[in-house]
Amino acid sequence: MMEIAIRVQGLKKSFGSQQVLRGVDLEIPRGAITVVIGRSGTGKSVLLKHLLGLVPPDEGTIEVGGQDLWKLRESGRRDLRARFGMVFQNAALFDSMDVFENVAFPLREHSGWEEEQIGTRVREVLASVGLSSAVHKLPSELSGGMRKRAGLARALVRNPDYLLYDEPTTGLDPIMTAQIDALIRATQDQHPGLTSVVISHDMQATFRIADRIAMLHEGRVILHEDRETFRQSDHPVVRQFVEGRLDGPIRPDLS
Ligand SMILES: Nc1ncnc2c1ncn2[C@@H]1O[C@H](COP(=O)(O)OP(=O)(O)OP(=O)(O)O)[C@@H](O)[C@H]1O
Ligand SMILES: [Mg+2]
Repeated sequence: MMEIAIRVQGLKKSFGSQQVLRGVDLEIPRGAITVVIGRSGTGKSVLLKHLLGLVPPDEGTIEVGGQDLWKLRESGRRDLRARFGMVFQNAALFDSMDVFENVAFPLREHSGWEEEQIGTRVREVLASVGLSSAVHKLPSELSGGMRKRAGLARALVRNPDYLLYDEPTTGLDPIMTAQIDALIRATQDQHPGLTSVVISHDMQATFRIADRIAMLHEGRVILHEDRETFRQSDHPVVRQFVEGRLDGPIRPDLS
């Protein structure tokens, strides 16, 4: 039986009059990659922020490692958050710091390590994402793919139990996309206890890296299955999305 690492139940969230999450139920197993797909604007990034405990739900619960995030004190939530690595949609590097300093930042803030130990760990992580040659480059001197890898290195540097990726390959060429996908898969395979959640709307990437796939649509998870079962689903919304067809139950929103 798979262990549930993160359990979301009945999660609802609105912004003003806009209902974004309308009752999300999702069980994320430990030691696997779960990819959450859905159209642009369906609330995938909002869902990720809830997993991190960065925004309170209007209704529903989020449990991480069996702990209900919003029954904890702020300090408890902070401790749990420290076990997450997050790869942001736009990499979110500090522009004035070079790659080394960006990746060292979480260690300087939290670890209390000596400089030498920090240096060793930063170089190790940068090597694992193929960025050894860019240690002293500024973000403005990096390609998009290198920025994504620097963001991944920063997310990994504290050896997280949970690793969240928000659209890690958007805006990259197909080869770089395949490289980042391979890196995401390799990272998971090297850390068997790691729980990865990847937000994506790229179906090719999804089938390449996912152990499990959940689809968010109109504020709910409409299907959550292992990769092969998902691939074969005949759910009309899922089929339309997977095949990228214009005709079907999903109406193109051109407003
Ligand atoms: N802090 C906020 N205040 C108001 N509205 C918000 C806020 N955050 C998100 N939204 C709205 O919630 C909806 C979902 O946003 P979200 O960023 O989660 O979409 P997404 O599925 O990640 O889309 P994409 O694939 O384009 O990144 C959008 O309509 C967005 O405008
Ligand atoms: Mg998003």
